[in-house]
Amino acid sequence: MRLEGKTAIITGAGSGQGRAAALLFAREGANVVVADVNEKGGHETVAEIEAAGGKATFKRADVSDEGQCKALVEHAVGTYGQLNILYNNAGVWYVAHHGYVVGETDAPSPLLTQNIWDRTVDVNLKGTYLCCKYAIPAMQKSDGIGAIINVSSVGAIRVGRGASDAYISSKGGVMAVTRNLAIEHAPKIRCNCLFPGPIETPMVGQMTDERKQWSRENVPLGRWGQPEDVARMALFLASDDASFITAAMFVVDGGFTAI
Ligand SMILES: NC(=O)c1ccc[n+]([C@@H]2O[C@H](COP(=O)([O-])OP(=O)(O)OC[C@H]3O[C@@H](n4cnc5c(N)ncnc54)[C@H](O)[C@@H]3O)[C@@H](O)[C@H]2O)c1
Repeated sequence: MRLEGKTAIITGAGSGQGRAAALLFAREGANVVVADVNEKGGHETVAEIEAAGGKATFKRADVSDEGQCKALVEHAVGTYGQLNILYNNAGVWYVAHHGYVVGETDAPSPLLTQNIWDRTVDVNLKGTYLCCKYAIPAMQKSDGIGAIINVSSVGAIRVGRGASDAYISSKGGVMAVTRNLAIEHAPKIRCNCLFPGPIETPMVGQMTDERKQWSRENVPLGRWGQPEDVARMALFLASDDASFITAAMFVVDGGFTAI
């Protein structure tokens, strides 16, 4: 088992890619702290892990709230004694037809309202940073080399027409802060960045049919990714197999960014 005895916090683990990673990390021997604002989804993830014989607890945490990030790390250390892995996966992407004022596909950028900008950047970028802020000191006191995996998006590298300014800016920031954290906290902590392409989760379910078709046609491997496709890369980065890898960028996109 590749994560035997390690403790991992996975944010946004009540759904999609975070849940897939939580299940995989637990199968590989990790104690998993499932963090999410979605309590129902979080408890379901824990139940699935326990049914498969793994170890996990749920902690409700809104990653945009500093106090809740601190409490999340304290929960992990208090429950399992140390913290070795942080997978900053929680994210939001607001689209127009979900009742928001503006969105990903059909609103001109100047109409982007302040509150959507603030919420997107608060969750995706500030939330990533805040979890790192409290996890890093805990990892420094823990055994071995800590591993942080931050989730950006191919949107930070390849901008399709109609992309959300707030979303791509937040994800570009995640890429930048990953490198800075990596060099600041080496060699005790490795910090890497994941760039998922279109992955079949509730998040892409929000896309218009037109954008769904565009994103499928632009994947050379001919399909959307599955949450497990990304989880396997996250497992590699979390494990000692990646012991010489830090400040690096990993695209998991079926070739989307190459065309
Ligand atoms: N699905 C894709 O095509 C795709 C592509 C590129 C990047 N991503 C990124 O991958 C990550 C995972 O997304 P997903 O596809 O699994 O989507 P998802 O919507 O299934 O999961 C996101 C999870 O994050 C949680 N979350 C939202 N705000 C939160 C907050 N403030 N605090 C804690 N948890 C919060 C949600 O409740 C949800 O459980 C996100 O960062 C997303 O931006 C997704």
